[in-house]
Amino acid sequence: MILKMPLLDLREEDLQRGDLVLVDGMPLMVSWTETWEKVKQFQAASGDLLIATYPKAGTTWIQEIVDNVLNADNLNKCHRSPTHDRMPFLEFVLPRNIISGVDQLAAMKPPRVIKTHLPFHLVPKSFWEKNCKTIYVARNPKDNLVSYYHFSRMCKTMPEPGTWEQFFQTFLSGNVAWGSWYEHVKGWWNERNKQQILYLFYEDIKEDPGREIRKLLKFLGKEFLSEETVEEIVWRTSFDVMKENPDANYSSLQSIFDKSISPFMRKGTVGDWKSHFTVSQNEMFDEDYRQKMADTDLRFRFLLQRRQDA
Ligand code: A3P
Repeated sequence: MILKMPLLDLREEDLQRGDLVLVDGMPLMVSWTETWEKVKQFQAASGDLLIATYPKAGTTWIQEIVDNVLNADNLNKCHRSPTHDRMPFLEFVLPRNIISGVDQLAAMKPPRVIKTHLPFHLVPKSFWEKNCKTIYVARNPKDNLVSYYHFSRMCKTMPEPGTWEQFFQTFLSGNVAWGSWYEHVKGWWNERNKQQILYLFYEDIKEDPGREIRKLLKFLGKEFLSEETVEEIVWRTSFDVMKENPDANYSSLQSIFDKSISPFMRKGTVGDWKSHFTVSQNEMFDEDYRQKMADTDLRFRFLLQRRQDA
């Protein structure tokens, strides 16, 4: 059963920008910590599929791709509800605890598709005890930062981002919700061969969505899907189509998102950071990146060579 978020129950005073507090060392909005113990105790079931990302890495995109793949026999099923009800967000909680991701998941019969932004070490242990599969998507940190900045401006319950210059520094310091981008992407990368984790990159999906969907099919044991279906999924999950899809574009969260500031489906490109970073910010970022990524073989692409709209 799908337990829908009762968004109409939200009051104006619920929509406040919260401060961050540390939960088990990870910064999180204070109002989200009410259900933290329940999140830690969450019991995954065998067959549950986890979608894990750092915020703004393309979560909603991969969720839509996964839902299309799992419902390839009847793609209209992907319109049964908006993203946040179809694939609950594990650690999410609406103000005053109106409903939480854990509540939504409790009402749903396994196997479920579950979204999380948690770093690997804070994911409830039951996922690994039950040998659940995880799809992790990482995005280059410059575009991730830009997207996070605009999202923080428009989402009324995120901490106040301040100016672009201020948020730039905050992101580098790691004092943002769900913590440091660097620790997140490296933490999951280090575990990818120890658990059933498919580690994907936003830039790769942008470059060749069909190729990445086929990787996903292999991971999920669904290689039998026809080329035609894969092409249809590529089309249905393209930026322009998702932007117009009320079940995939978060228009359902209009009380929480101020689209006059920035739309949720904002640009969906690789390299938008170039229109935000100053030359000196770019130099500072590159030096910081070099130091923080010195202990890993994980590599990112900051630009794509070919035209993205091809
Ligand atoms: P931008 O702000 O750079 O446009 P998340 O779902 O993790 O919050 O990530 C949101 C980011 O993914 C936004 O990036 C959004 O536009 C982008 N996105 C969502 N759907 C997409 C799609 N179908 N293709 C490309 N990018 C997409």
